[in-house]
Amino acid sequence: MTEPRQPSRKLHIKTYGCQMNVYDSARMADLLTPLGYATTETAEDADLVILNTCHIREKAAEKVYSDIGRLRPAREAKRDAGGRMLLAVAGCVAQAEGGEIKARAPEVDIILGPQTYHRLPEMVARASRQHAVVLDTDFPAEAKFDFLPETNVAPGVSAFLSIQEGCDKFCTFCVVPYTRGAEYSRPAGAIVAEARRLVELGAREITLLGQNVNAYRDGEYGLGRLIRSVAEIPGLARIRYTTSHPRDVDDELIEAHRDVEKLMPFLHLPVQSGSDKILDAMNRRHTADDYRRIVDRLRTARPDLALSSDFIAGFPGESDEDFDATMALVRDVAFAQAFSFKYSARPGTPATSMKNQVPDAVKAARLDALQGLLTAQQRAFNRAAVGRDMKVLFEKPGRHPGQLVGRSPYLQAVHADASDDFIGTVAPVRVTALGANSLAGEIVR
Ligand code: 5AD
Ligand code: SF4
Repeated sequence: MTEPRQPSRKLHIKTYGCQMNVYDSARMADLLTPLGYATTETAEDADLVILNTCHIREKAAEKVYSDIGRLRPAREAKRDAGGRMLLAVAGCVAQAEGGEIKARAPEVDIILGPQTYHRLPEMVARASRQHAVVLDTDFPAEAKFDFLPETNVAPGVSAFLSIQEGCDKFCTFCVVPYTRGAEYSRPAGAIVAEARRLVELGAREITLLGQNVNAYRDGEYGLGRLIRSVAEIPGLARIRYTTSHPRDVDDELIEAHRDVEKLMPFLHLPVQSGSDKILDAMNRRHTADDYRRIVDRLRTARPDLALSSDFIAGFPGESDEDFDATMALVRDVAFAQAFSFKYSARPGTPATSMKNQVPDAVKAARLDALQGLLTAQQRAFNRAAVGRDMKVLFEKPGRHPGQLVGRSPYLQAVHADASDDFIGTVAPVRVTALGANSLAGEIVR
């Protein structure tokens, strides 16, 4: 083992897309610490810039190319001063379009997929020596998790922990099974050990992550059982998990929502559409009523449970009636929060070549209507918090002096006047006002 060197080089990581990428970015920073890299907030003065990219929709993927262009002047300035800024493109765009990046942006030094970033130190060393691009987008036989160093960086009050990766569901619109590969679950023992470590370093909340997190399986351990084990860690106050698939909500998981107090009563459970015809064309393998039944069972187990979801408007073949069925499902369930998107054709996915594509204007109009309804539901949910007491986990200073900001059990941002000792603690807050993006309240003493 070599001793870590004093930080002498600057690393800037820009993260796009999902929380899995946020976790991966933190691990890449860990991996580069022994090479003398310390993170910096600005790209301009960095010796190594990593763009950790997202391929889920076209807009997200295109951002990468404009960001590469934006870095050009800083790279040139650095070169003129006799230095060098290495540029790495990581994540799902690198995985899906490695060759295209090479052609469109020849200045990129390193292209690496989500499954090979444990090899990053070696790639950085190679790229520093040579001027040809280093490309590694394999799906290696070894699991990258076995090669990641223990984290030494304080994770903050709320930490992410990847427990599962990849997806075998093959929804017909989605690139994930191609960019992240087959489902893989980390051993339960390694996860509990990492969770302990995060708590030792100051985390009070852990969000268990996976593209298909509730497909988690290690022998006897499904997600419900894993949550029970993680809940035993002293000092840990809150557990969350994301993203789930309705098909994989099993009895054990519902029972965990009933029994485990640390498990927060807020669940992101994407449904995508309320039309059975569209759900079938999406290969979701559940109906709208299956979804309603799962929600009923979860709410019976945990009456204060609130839901979030993902929706796609204008999937190929979606008629007005199909879209109405989505609106009806939204009205039936009443979501606390949701993400909704226009269908975006992704290269290599089955839905891209479906004949009955929906015109963009129709997609846009439907998305507008859907977002109108979802926003109204979200505001109603937030308004209902006013006058109530909520437990808030305080995370950091707020915008005004003497103020902290934390999260309610439902991930709502809550501001309250409190001293810094409250950071990392859960305190009851009486909610007094509803702002544009957050709640305000007073600590109940
Ligand atoms: N077009 C639009 N939205 C998509 N999503 C995934 N693929 C696409 C696509 N091709 C959405 C889904 C998913 C979320 C992460 O992104 O709603 O749940
Ligand atoms: Fe994509 Fe469907 Fe897998 Fe989610 S479950 S990652 S939407 S293929």
